[in-house]
Amino acid sequence: MDIVDPRVETYIASLHARYDEPVLLEMEAEARALGFPIVGRNVGVTLSMLAASVGAKRVFELGSGFGYSAYWFARATGADGEIHLTDGDAANERKAADYLGRAGVWPRVRYHVGDALTSFAEVPGDFDVVYDDIDKQGYPDAWRAASLRVRVGGLYICDNTLWSGRVPPDGEAPDDVTGAIREHNAMVAGDERFVTTLLPIRDGVLVAVRIA
Ligand SMILES: C[S@@+](CC[C@H](N)C(=O)[O-])C[C@H]1O[C@@H](n2cnc3c(N)ncnc32)[C@H](O)[C@@H]1O
Repeated sequence: MDIVDPRVETYIASLHARYDEPVLLEMEAEARALGFPIVGRNVGVTLSMLAASVGAKRVFELGSGFGYSAYWFARATGADGEIHLTDGDAANERKAADYLGRAGVWPRVRYHVGDALTSFAEVPGDFDVVYDDIDKQGYPDAWRAASLRVRVGGLYICDNTLWSGRVPPDGEAPDDVTGAIREHNAMVAGDERFVTTLLPIRDGVLVAVRIA
């Protein structure tokens, strides 16, 4: 199920045409060719806007693939940013180094190959933004870890929180993945340290700002 009418998605994407640059277009083409689940242009610009709106300099991504979402965070943080990327697949690090190198932002990237939450535990300090895009059954644990390390005024952002429309209850027992996303969304929304909403863009982007 499309959350957003494809005509509307296409229209919004057309407003973001000024970001076209060869390396970004190449990343988008690779995702299309391989069926690799990047966030896409509309969510990418949203990530950049959200990060810029809190003056983000230090970002931690849980689940980075070949660096597409990180490209958008890197645009927002500027040259003195520090973006931590994580992925279980070393081939994705090599691709990210190539793409983000050619985009001129690789010096602000630290790429950790291995389990995302293990890497997160190994990097000290708080973050302006923690972005969660790992395997969906890991979302509840990711939230438990991330919520403690987003600075006050910072953001926790999580992709695929509507899961093609399967997350809103429909009277059926959920499968494990849907159940994990549902549990995650309820935990974040119920946490009084954060003000949270779920933006119904692409596959649902949950955004929580830490207030206490
Ligand atoms: C949806 S893709 C990430 C896409 C990326 N955020 C983007 O939009 O460009 C998820 C990636 O996270 C990795 N991944 C999933 N669960 C992980 C985990 N627990 N630890 C490390 N990497 C994980 C997968 O290998 C995959 O490359």
